[in-house]
Amino acid sequence: MKERSNFSSKIGFVLAAAGSAVGLGNIWRFPYLAAQYGGGTFLLIYLVLAVTFGFTLMTAEIAIGRKTGLSAIGAFKKLDRHFGFLGIMASLVPIIIFPYYSVIGGWVVKYLVTFAQGRTQAAAGDTYFTDFVSQAGEPVAWFSIFLGVTAIVVLFGVEKGIEKVSKVMMPLLVLLTIVIAVYSCTIDGAGEGIIYYLKPNLADFSAKTILAAMGQLFYSMSLAMGIMVTYGSYMKKDNHLENSVRQIEIFDTGIAFLAGLMIIPAVFAFSGGDTSKLKAGPSLMFITLPKVFNSMKFGTVIGFIFFLLVLFAALTSAISLMETIVSIFMDKFHWSRRFTGILVACAAMIMGIPSSLGFGVLSDISWRGMSILDIMDFISNSVLMPIVAFFTCIFVGFIISPKVIADEVKETDGTFKTESMFNIMIKWIAPIFLVAILVSSVASAMGWFTI
Ligand code: PHE
Repeated sequence: MKERSNFSSKIGFVLAAAGSAVGLGNIWRFPYLAAQYGGGTFLLIYLVLAVTFGFTLMTAEIAIGRKTGLSAIGAFKKLDRHFGFLGIMASLVPIIIFPYYSVIGGWVVKYLVTFAQGRTQAAAGDTYFTDFVSQAGEPVAWFSIFLGVTAIVVLFGVEKGIEKVSKVMMPLLVLLTIVIAVYSCTIDGAGEGIIYYLKPNLADFSAKTILAAMGQLFYSMSLAMGIMVTYGSYMKKDNHLENSVRQIEIFDTGIAFLAGLMIIPAVFAFSGGDTSKLKAGPSLMFITLPKVFNSMKFGTVIGFIFFLLVLFAALTSAISLMETIVSIFMDKFHWSRRFTGILVACAAMIMGIPSSLGFGVLSDISWRGMSILDIMDFISNSVLMPIVAFFTCIFVGFIISPKVIADEVKETDGTFKTESMFNIMIKWIAPIFLVAILVSSVASAMGWFTI
């Protein structure tokens, strides 16, 4: 059998996994959730959850991958033959997400090109975004470009494709984020926005805030979809698992935090302290921000840099989604990387088209007010992911026992500092939280009740 590919260096692994984790979720979803749920309070809760809940789930997934040397379907089955279903469910998540994530990636490319052409004024127009997404051909064209670039990187493989690209894009992403965050904090009227973002307001502390932070956390860390299992399977034994997870977390949370600094003060200043724009959710990135850039000095340059960094974030995440799918099929059918890659890219193209057309030609297709893209997002993020994460906890906690994971973590030098926290989290606390996330997100989408 061919030897499994590996990340060649420790930092290569960390940057690739961080590349997966840092995505649209950090840059666009995190800031608006933070704004919606009371700034500092949300930040604080998020931080605590990252080092407990997020840490536990990520450690478990990476260890399962490294121990078995397989991607999700094979990995769970190898550890217990009754749990093959969990691998299949986990694998469904990236298969559903990858196409629509690439559709949004295509929108980012479109905006990048718009700013590169200096058409800032146009991008700031009230109907620019809706005019664009409601067309048929253009969004599909940008989507296929984004998908094509992702596919090329994956075709080059783990070391020559993913690791190389991550090593260039991730440091650049940090740099660009810092540049814009600093700029954004220095514009007139930004001060109050910074305070709004950072100051904890106890009145905002509620069960809902905790659930929102947790939902965001495990989406942001790319958990419960087999990605970290796959990346773990490429990780070498001399790479300290616990330390690597810490580094990935710092990266992911750091970028999310900076994204808030980049967006919240600027939007705050632009809207004269009116926070409704910040809380507007999805439209923030494609409708409000272009207006903010248009009103700024050097707005075209800033807008261009912003969409470039968003593109890097989206690309490295899309790469991890595609790699996970490709590796599942390669493991299962022993096909070549090239054949599998091309097949997956074509399938994703076909599957993504309805999501892309859902804002125009197919806008009649909707469910409970959600477009096709939103429905995909709902099924994968709000339903499948909590279920997969829940069963992963039960699997580790009660079927194979947490000791198997702990032994894998200790492979490098015999240490696992937070083992006791890991044990309690995976067996008791995380599963309860996950059921709460599932119930609350399904209940609010169905209109039953909101927490
Ligand atoms: N973690 C990514 C983000 O924060 C999202 C993502 C989800 C990436 C699923 C890959 C797979 O945007």
